[in-house]
Amino acid sequence: MAPKNQQISKRKADHINITLNEEIGFRQKKTGFELYEFEHNALPELNANTIDTSTKFLGKQLSFPFMVSSMTGGFLGAEKINGLLATVCNEFSVAMGVGSQRQALENSKYIKSFKIVRKNAPDIPLVGNIGAAEIASIKDVSPIQRLVDTIQANAFAIHLNPLQEFLQPEGKTNFTGVLKGIENLVKYLSVPIIVKEIGAGISPTVAQKLMNVGVNIIDTAGAGGTSWAGVEIIRRNDDSLAETFWDWGIPTADSIIGIRKLSKKIFIIGSGGIRSGLDIAKALALGADVAASATPILKVLKQRGERGIIDILTLWKNELQGVMFLVGAKNIETLKKTKIYGCKQKN
Ligand SMILES: Cc1cc2nc3c(=O)[nH]c(=O)nc-3n(C[C@H](O)[C@H](O)[C@H](O)COP(=O)(O)O)c2cc1C
Repeated sequence: MAPKNQQISKRKADHINITLNEEIGFRQKKTGFELYEFEHNALPELNANTIDTSTKFLGKQLSFPFMVSSMTGGFLGAEKINGLLATVCNEFSVAMGVGSQRQALENSKYIKSFKIVRKNAPDIPLVGNIGAAEIASIKDVSPIQRLVDTIQANAFAIHLNPLQEFLQPEGKTNFTGVLKGIENLVKYLSVPIIVKEIGAGISPTVAQKLMNVGVNIIDTAGAGGTSWAGVEIIRRNDDSLAETFWDWGIPTADSIIGIRKLSKKIFIIGSGGIRSGLDIAKALALGADVAASATPILKVLKQRGERGIIDILTLWKNELQGVMFLVGAKNIETLKKTKIYGCKQKN
């Protein structure tokens, strides 16, 4: 059997390949954004050219409220992907997360694939990343602090992925002590903690527990976009659990609304199935502060390289600007206060 580090690198490469080559969307369930509509404003009394889409995140200015979600690092090929993503994100002034840095904890060989990110993106908010199972009951936070320092991260994300771990033959399914680990990281790490899912959403109950231990930023990563159950089911080449778990999770819109109801103050990253500037606008009107997306960005990178990412970010920013014009929102703060209507019944 290959050493553990090689196994993890292989898994990282599998995840990229499956994301790029297989159907990994949810099968029936949707994000919930399709159930909401803005009211068209035929009298916006605005000049579309002066609409301001910029916002602040982690103390830095973004050209529009967007982040490339945590994806990769720690395998051969990751340095190139991360380097390109970082270059475009910096050019565009949007935030970026790196994928799980677990590999860099265990083997310095993989550090380069993360370091490149800060090298190519000196100006933007960067977010480090590790899985829940790695921080269960953690007391000594210094190894995690080293991961933060490697990319001079502005925040560090913990991903909660019980569904994925459950479906991985080699998954780590002991989630006892994760909340305590998060609490210790909140207390002792030098940067803010973000807690995220990876496609099954964060419920208000979980959000409340996180807020009770001092978490101020939650990334919904809700259902309706990439199905991580789907990815793992394809990886294990065994469809028997697909029926029950492929579409498991809280739709992104429900996750955003539920968390925002709990607290006006919590910073929400709305993600999971963000696929257009309209989705970004809806996420913000429903309660998010910024939006984020993963799979579409990786796909255009593979198909069309750096140009592909520039084009998709340009399109989404233009769409967002168009929606803001048509609802009469001159800036992001106004968009967040804009009423959005539940328009269709869930089937
Ligand atoms: C290839 C790939 C690798 C990912 N790896 C990570 C990871 O290491 N850590 C993490 O928190 N999320 C990871 N994610 C999950 C994304 O950050 C995101 O939450 C999820 O894919 C839902 O967003 P989407 O529907 O826009 O793809 C990964 C996603 C992709 C596509």
